[in-house]
Amino acid sequence: MTKTATLTAIGLGPGDPELITLKGLRALQAADVLFVPQSRDGDQSLALRIAEPWIDRARQMVVALPLPMTRDAGQLRPAWRAAAETIVSELGADRHGAYLLLGDPLLYGTFVYLWRELIALQASVTVRIVPGVTSFAAAAAAGGMPLAMSNERMIIVPASYETNAAALRQLLRDFETVVLMKAGSALPAIVAALEELGLLDRVLYAERVGMPEELIVRDLRSLDPQRRPYLSLVIVRRGDLL
Ligand SMILES: C[S@@+](CC[C@H](N)C(=O)[O-])C[C@H]1O[C@@H](n2cnc3c(N)ncnc32)[C@H](O)[C@@H]1O
Repeated sequence: MTKTATLTAIGLGPGDPELITLKGLRALQAADVLFVPQSRDGDQSLALRIAEPWIDRARQMVVALPLPMTRDAGQLRPAWRAAAETIVSELGADRHGAYLLLGDPLLYGTFVYLWRELIALQASVTVRIVPGVTSFAAAAAAGGMPLAMSNERMIIVPASYETNAAALRQLLRDFETVVLMKAGSALPAIVAALEELGLLDRVLYAERVGMPEELIVRDLRSLDPQRRPYLSLVIVRRGDLL
């Protein structure tokens, strides 16, 4: 029987190491090589920090893949191609690899870009995905906010692209719950928009959920919106609260 190399993208959950799924943990522990995205040389990868309690350093190799935090395709494409080439060469013909990332791999995750490059390289690597607990599910749980009930509708949008009051008003007309991901630097604009809409107290703001630095705020009036971190999101709900 011919063996083939495998690469499993594992959603680690939002930050608490215990929020990895059992399937994810098993796949992580079965891997020979663990690949983690790294935004800048020298920075410890966040995915690595979350997965650390589950890694056996004596048996498993950790390979950091440098991936710039930019929207510039001219920089990103070569970085993805180089990362895919590294994976192919580390896995060889029959090793098992795992690519670790926050939350769910297919929700605004980095893995899809990498997967595309593996396809373009015609790599003989079997790809599998293990879903993960998303940041907004963990945030709703930590803050005690229902996401959707009965026949309600919910939408997930990247806040960095949709922050003004008109856009939010339109979304809240159509959906009982709006999840604004990638809130970070967009927070001042989000707060201004919610204030204009009179919704500052129908909000859950969550920062670094599941990490020691976690911050959950239910009333945006009590939050300084300046310089919030990238790992933050806002859930606005005009449907029933508890
Ligand atoms: C590149 S996306 C990754 C999303 C991730 N795949 C998921 O399933 O949640 C990054 C955004 O996810 C959200 N996020 C991820 N982890 C988070 C956490 N621990 N706390 C708060 N927000 C988080 C933030 O909105 C952040 O800007």
